Parts: sequence; C-alpha cells; structure tokens
Amino acid sequence: MDLLRIEGGPPLNGVVRASGAKNATLPVMASALLIDEPLFVENVPHLEDVTTTNVLLAHMGVSVTIGDYMVVEADASTITQCVAPYDLVKTMRASILVLGPLLARHGEAEVSLPGGCAIGARPVDIHLRGLEAMGAEIRVEGGYVKARCARLQGARIPMDMVTVTGTENLMMAATLADGVTVLENAAREPEVIDLANCLIAMGAEISGAGTSTITIRGKKQLHGARHRVCPDRIETGTFLVAGAASRGCVKVTHTDPSLIDVVLAKLAAAGAEVTQGNDWVQVDMHGRRPRSVDVRTSPYPGFPTDMQAQFCVLNAVADGVGMVTETVFENRFMHVSELERMGAKIRQEGHTVRVTGIEQLTGAPVMATDLRASASLVIAGLIADGTTDVRRIYHIDRGYECIEEKMAQLGGIIRRLPDRAPVTARGVSV
Ligand code: EPU
Repeated sequence: MDLLRIEGGPPLNGVVRASGAKNATLPVMASALLIDEPLFVENVPHLEDVTTTNVLLAHMGVSVTIGDYMVVEADASTITQCVAPYDLVKTMRASILVLGPLLARHGEAEVSLPGGCAIGARPVDIHLRGLEAMGAEIRVEGGYVKARCARLQGARIPMDMVTVTGTENLMMAATLADGVTVLENAAREPEVIDLANCLIAMGAEISGAGTSTITIRGKKQLHGARHRVCPDRIETGTFLVAGAASRGCVKVTHTDPSLIDVVLAKLAAAGAEVTQGNDWVQVDMHGRRPRSVDVRTSPYPGFPTDMQAQFCVLNAVADGVGMVTETVFENRFMHVSELERMGAKIRQEGHTVRVTGIEQLTGAPVMATDLRASASLVIAGLIADGTTDVRRIYHIDRGYECIEEKMAQLGGIIRRLPDRAPVTARGVSV
C-alpha cells in the first residue's frame, strides 16, 4: 500500500483541470445494462470506483472497452448473468446501481447488500421499496437482494428521505417499465440530471430531473447512445478550498461553477475573491488568512456533505470559530480526530463540530478513513508546518484522479511512496 508524503507550507497557486464526475460516471455506466447496443461514455475519470464498476459489468458479461481520451464503451448485448457478487459490492456501495437496470431489462437480479460503511449505516430500503412498488418480488437471502419481475409497472413512488443513488436506481428502472412512474421527494443533485440526460439520449422519456418530482414514461426498449459526463463539482470544490486554506490563488478549468454556488458563497464569506466563467472558477485569497464560516450539510441545492471535511480544515486555520453540522450521514466526522493530531482545535457535540481556528497546523502521520476525509487530510498536510504522511490512501484513489499530480501542479510538495509502516504480529499495517 502507498502513502502520500506532504511537505506543507507554501500557498497553492495555479491552474488545474477538473475531471469528469465520479458520482455521475457510476450510474451512467450502470445504465448500459438497460440496452443491447453500445453506450459510449466520455469524460470518464480514471478512478478506482470506475474500475470497480467496469469489473462488475465485465463480470456480468458486458463487453467494456476503454478507449482513448477518457471514453469507455460498454455493450451489454453480451450479458451472461445478472449477479453482482459481494466481493465487488463490498468495495463500492454504488454497485447497488445495477439492481434497477438489471431488473428492468432482464426481469431478474441478484445483488449483494452493500452493508454499512465508515460514514454510516447507509441502508438501501428506499431502493427496494420503490422497486416493489413497481411490481418486483424482492427477497433478501444470504446477504443478497434477490429480485424478480415480469415487466416492471409504472407507479407513484413517494420517498421518505432524499436519496441520490435511490433516485437514480428507480429512474433507470422506470425507463423500461409499463406506464408512468412518478418519483416524489427525488434527489435534485446535478448527477441525477446528468444520468437523466444520458437516459434521454438512449430514448427514455423523462421530465422533472433536477426537481423533487421526476416523471418517467416507460418505453419498450432504449437504444445505444453517446454521453459526456458532467464535471466533478466535489473535486472542483476540493481544489478551491485547498487554495483558500493555503492563502493562495487556484483556478479550476473544465468545470461548471454553477453546480457549486453554495460552496462558492461560503468561500466568498471566508474572504476569497471568487471569479468565474462558464467553465472555470478561481478563488484568490490575496495572501489573507480565511475567516471562519458556519456550514450545515443537506441534499442539493444545500451544502454538500461531500465538502464538509474540507471546510473543517479551512475553519481549522481560519480567523474565528466555525460551526460545521452534518445532517446527511450519521458518522462523517472521522477526519476530526486526525486533524486534532495536527493541532486543530475541534470539539464535537453530536452532529456538530465547533472549530476554533489557529494560525497553523503541524505536520503529523495521519490515517485516511473515507474518501472526503482523505481529501481533507491532504489539504491539511499541504498547509501544515512540517511533514505529513497520509496513510490508507486507497480511499482517495477511489474518487480523486491523480490528486498528488494535480496538487503538485499547484505548487504542493506531495509524493506517493510505498508505505513501510511497522507491521503487527498479524502482518497488517498499523
Ligand atoms: N438512506 C436511507 N435509505 C436508503 C437510501 C439512503 O436511509 O434506501 C439514507 C442514507 O443512509 C443517508 C441518506 O439517506 O443517511 C442519504 O444517502 P444517499 O442515498 O443520498 O447517499 P448515496 O446515494 O449512497 C451518494 C453519493 C455520496 C454522497 C451522497 C449524498 C454516489 C455514488 N454517492 O451516496 O458520495 O455523499 O449521495 O450526497 O453518488 C462520495 O462521493 O464521497 C460519496 C460518499
């Protein structure tokens, strides 16, 4: 396993390009299961989670071809089995996204239950209840969701919580159902709109994506298409926070600033000069220390939970006290104890942390616990005094393309090295 060794200090300055969005790519790749013709997906980021999705599709017999210029072709006409095994699902919860398309297209699916994960229990009950409302028979046996149906039937599906992948799974399933499906309290995330655009290019009839009511009129079949996934708004926000926390000036290109209005407003409140065009955005601190900002996560268009950890770091070095409240996941503060090891003054009270800014963090060995927590530790390392080793970086490789190269492009001193940490008697890195 590798680690990231970071020498902190200098402000980050420069230009970096945003990759395609991980959380748009994963459902779009799964939607290839709805058709018997090739789906060409452009702007695909090179990430572990995308590789896992490709392996999962290939395991089912889908022919996956990785072409030049971030294009992946998936052709499900060769599918041989509708099974998503535990070994793949356990490494990536988003594997549940194959359930809806498999059921809608093939009338059967066996998908391992993803189980809990570091940031919370994350059940999939809303996905399952929605498919049942569309006529699927679902049993959970031996850790697997075993689902069958003749043809799914359109239905009105009120969802009691806003769920991103739940909305995506049901929207995909509904494209091949008999009749009209109405998803109520649907997620409004840009990645849901991106998936809807891909499905529409495949011939689906969908209206209301991006609002809390999505209406899908099912079709007998869909066809092959070409789709370009939207830019990664969370990656974009992560680089901008890195720029602001380091008192530097960072411009992100090939992105869509309109997807992160709320994040940009917080950066402006922190004292950054924010400028933007259609496909670029820049934050410039003009060398100033950021001011603390209060943040409360909620589903889109609220403040994204996937940016919460990064703002904890910004507040850790800001002038003042910032309150950060997490409302989407029950256990998403694991970065806090690692940041405290770097000198951050943070007190957790239930779902809120109170961050009292200090002038500078101090480098330390830290452990990544989940994807966004890992990103926050990288930012912390880049602005700290001294050396920070970030271990267990497989989390970061799941969702950030070449993070060390992109941070180095901004002047960060960061290297990937083999982890030679001491091992326990059982041979496991500690
Ligand atoms: N929930 C339920 N039942 C369900 C589904 C969700 O109780 O059937 C709960 C969850 O436990 C959670 C809340 O609803 O408390 C919201 O979860 P959601 O289903 O929206 O999350 P998700 O679809 O599993 C996606 C992203 C996450 C992102 C969240 C919230 C993908 C592949 N993942 O997860 O991304 O944090 O939405 O925006 O789209 C990341 O990229 O680091 C990441 C974790």
